[in-house]
Amino acid sequence: MNSAARASLDVVILAAGKGTRMHSSLPKVLHRLAGLSLLEHVIRSAQALNPGSIHVVYGHGGELVPEQLQHLNVQWVKQEPQLGTGHAVQQAMPGITAQTLLILYGDVPLTRLETLRALVQAAVNGGMALLTAELADPDGYGRIVRDAAGRVTRIVEHKDASETERAIREINTGILLAPVARLQQWLAALGNNNVQGEYYLTDVIGMAAREGQVIGTARPQAEWEIMGVNSKAQLAELERIHQRNQAQALMEQGVTLMDPARFDLRGTLTCGQDVMIDVNAVIEGDVTLGNRVQIGPNNVLRNCKIDADTFVQPNCVIENAEIGADCRIGPFARIRPETRIAERAHIGNFVEIKKSVIGVGSKVNHLTYVGDSTVGKDVNIGAGTITANYDGANKHHTRIEDKASIGSNCVLVAPVTIGAGATIGAGSVISRDAPAGELTLSRVKQTTVPGWKRPIKKKEF
Ligand code: UD1
Ligand code: MG
Repeated sequence: MNSAARASLDVVILAAGKGTRMHSSLPKVLHRLAGLSLLEHVIRSAQALNPGSIHVVYGHGGELVPEQLQHLNVQWVKQEPQLGTGHAVQQAMPGITAQTLLILYGDVPLTRLETLRALVQAAVNGGMALLTAELADPDGYGRIVRDAAGRVTRIVEHKDASETERAIREINTGILLAPVARLQQWLAALGNNNVQGEYYLTDVIGMAAREGQVIGTARPQAEWEIMGVNSKAQLAELERIHQRNQAQALMEQGVTLMDPARFDLRGTLTCGQDVMIDVNAVIEGDVTLGNRVQIGPNNVLRNCKIDADTFVQPNCVIENAEIGADCRIGPFARIRPETRIAERAHIGNFVEIKKSVIGVGSKVNHLTYVGDSTVGKDVNIGAGTITANYDGANKHHTRIEDKASIGSNCVLVAPVTIGAGATIGAGSVISRDAPAGELTLSRVKQTTVPGWKRPIKKKEF
């Protein structure tokens, strides 16, 4: 391959470790932060740099990691056994064709793009660059050793460090950039004569320095960018930080969050102007809210689009649905997948709508199930109505045409059509089509038994 055709940057993500402290059967990098696995966060950061290729080194947990993330365009490299970070990178080297390699970690999910770009800038003459940080408590990390002139000379792992070296507060985040051709040779020369008996990636820094290479360094703006996940507590801590960051970004766009600490976004939220979101919203997948939409407390919104001026009252669950403008939903409504609700409709409490279309201005206000149905405009569906869409084997369709009015406590046995402007008497079981414009009811006639007396309890002897 000629050098002009080579991408300038490839990425290797290390993700083979066990994650013992997670106490889980799931490999650590598959645990989720804001609805997305830790590893997918890192892969997305890598993709944002537009590299030639991304290589993920996996190992612990067998094929589960590549299986669960097979939708991602990365090269999977198995490391078995896991003999250290240097050994891990070595496994990926045969697939690397770029001039420069960026090394990231599958359990460090929140590094910002700007920080990675700063690291790329920090490399001098195509040499190495390290992302380092100054920590109040550097315990456990590799320390950056510099000479009197401030040049990086090597990294010493905490476990191998002397007392003086342990006093160094500048630590190795692990994230680094290296020239591929030299790295090949340095990796081949690694030994494992250290406290952990591992092939340390960090030993290549000493090798580079001894060759007279200048090792650049860059710093992240915030400590959470370099924080890794080793336990459920750290996972929860990073989740909160990420949620706070997302909430902050939304507020900067003009979204009103009644309490940014009680807001969870696990996906993408797109908002119009003057959107208001009350406490305890859980927003998942792709959600779009139009201008002036109000989301009351305790709502779960998943993959849905809600148009301008609609008010979702408290305690609703809305999933894979589209809701038009100026609607009123809930409280306590459940809008299930493949539902489309047109503008000015009202869906009230304890109402479940599944795979149905509800027309403009129609009202389904109380205690009702509408499934597999097409409901026209200005329809009123009374309390306690059920579309009986399932015969025990197959689902059937119900059609309720414009301006029909369904009395309370009706069962509409599908397949069935209620004609335009029809009225259905309360308590009816409708199993045949009801004609337009007429009153239809199927109700046992009310009778009175004259002179009937209640039985009287017999005396016991
Ligand atoms: C490593 C660095 C240390 C740095 C710290 C930052 C080395 C030798 N040390 O130490 O300087 O301060 O990260 O957190 O690199 N992994 C594999 N295969 C392996 C070993 C590890 O894929 O054989 C992966 C792990 O899944 C993990 C990452 O590499 O994501 C780091 O490994 P870990 O053993 O945690 O390194 P540290 O001891 O923390
Ligand atoms: Mg280790």
